[in-house]
Amino acid sequence: MTPEDVLAELTGLQAGDVPTHGGATMAYVYDSGLAGLDDLAAAAQAAYQWTNALDPTAFPSVARIEGDLVAAGLGLLGGGPGAVGTVTSGGTESCLLAVLAARERWRAHGRPGRPRLLLPVSAHAAFRKAAHLFDLEPVDVPVDPAGRADPAAVRAALDERAALVVGSAPSYPHGVLDPVTEIAGAAAAAGVPCHVDACIGGWVLPFLDDVPEPFDLAVPGVTSLSVDLHKYGYAPKGVSMLLTNDPEFRQGHWFATAGWPGYPVVNPTLAGTRPAGPMAAAWAVHRALGTDGYRELARTARAATVALAEGAAAVPGLRVVGRPVGTLVALAQDGPDGVDVLHLADEMTARGWLLQPQPPFAQPGGADLPGTLHLTVTAATAPRVPALLADLAAAARAAAALPPPVPDPGLVAAAATLDPATLTVAEVDGLLELAGVGGGRLPARMAPVHALVAALPRPLAERLLAGVLDLVHRPSVTSVRAG
Ligand SMILES: Cc1ncc(COP(=O)(O)O)c(C=O)c1O
Repeated sequence: MTPEDVLAELTGLQAGDVPTHGGATMAYVYDSGLAGLDDLAAAAQAAYQWTNALDPTAFPSVARIEGDLVAAGLGLLGGGPGAVGTVTSGGTESCLLAVLAARERWRAHGRPGRPRLLLPVSAHAAFRKAAHLFDLEPVDVPVDPAGRADPAAVRAALDERAALVVGSAPSYPHGVLDPVTEIAGAAAAAGVPCHVDACIGGWVLPFLDDVPEPFDLAVPGVTSLSVDLHKYGYAPKGVSMLLTNDPEFRQGHWFATAGWPGYPVVNPTLAGTRPAGPMAAAWAVHRALGTDGYRELARTARAATVALAEGAAAVPGLRVVGRPVGTLVALAQDGPDGVDVLHLADEMTARGWLLQPQPPFAQPGGADLPGTLHLTVTAATAPRVPALLADLAAAARAAAALPPPVPDPGLVAAAATLDPATLTVAEVDGLLELAGVGGGRLPARMAPVHALVAALPRPLAERLLAGVLDLVHRPSVTSVRAG
């Protein structure tokens, strides 16, 4: 095939994807809306796409790029003298490494039993993954109805097995800021490290004037902080940072071995070979925008968020959860006769927007949290806020006319008798067929599926979710190999 044909085929494949630019996809993607910025990132990425960040002695320019990024992050986020950081592949990896380092510290202190990870339930799912991978016990700490971590609940959960406490700045589900000073203070008093997950807010909040309280590395007791450049750093995917004031800390997630006959291995992250392209792109975007450029983007996105939240709260049947501090908003049903947000998500999809449905959540030891619609607002959405609010009002009227998405009680009761641990892949395929997602083809209206997932016991729901991905990721019928 000619390069032109190959690229045309690739473009054809993308036709079914949600748009990455234009501000209508309000999760997953971050669009500065600035002409030329993405071209610069692409050129920087292209210049480094064959470089291997595995070995900074062979590629010293990569060490320089990483050093510059970390210095910028520490400068923005309260790093003190001697502070250090590591560039990672994304928010999840930054969170994983923070937990790994904390577990290593906990082990080094010779604490008894299995280490525990104290998680306000609004902490990103990446921390549950970390607990799973690194064998810590995740401890659910309730959040208040406004979505904020409860410092008293954190304090009550601190014990000699606590290896790490997490706070979010802000949390992904509701966009609210945890009381970092109180949480980190309580953790420090108990001799436990505290990680601030600023993956999504870390490159926004420092540029705003209306952030109600401090949250960064300068807060006493905060031992590490994660921030993603591939979110509001407006860099392409694959670049985040884990920062710490304590140079000893990162040794806990670095790995070195001379125990094989090959090259001496030192890996600061989970990867071996590390792509340098995203780092170079982040560096280039950072150089181009500078502090003033980021400040302007952050303020534009924040103003759009405030306008959007006010407008959405005025739509009958909807309310805003808590007090969003940055550029995220969560909308919930207002009152028993309010608008079902799962239906609302479908109605907005039909109108060309992607608003992310978050199913209702029963908090262990706390009030139930309502289902919500999550909106990540970037600068590119700003000019479209009036159109978004008009569509939201129309979608809310349409959603209000639909019966609530209540799952079939017979199906829920039958499913509840299943043991997810013993289900085979074929059995899960069969169950998904019954649930309306056979073959991994998602229905146009997802509200009934989300409602069913929320009604199932959590382990079974998790098995079925993995089952959907299993179906989606089966090899193509016309594969490259078969030509
Ligand atoms: C607060 C927070 N932490 C962690 C993550 C995980 O980041 P990633 O998707 O880059 O792995 C996200 C992603 O949205 C986030 O918002």
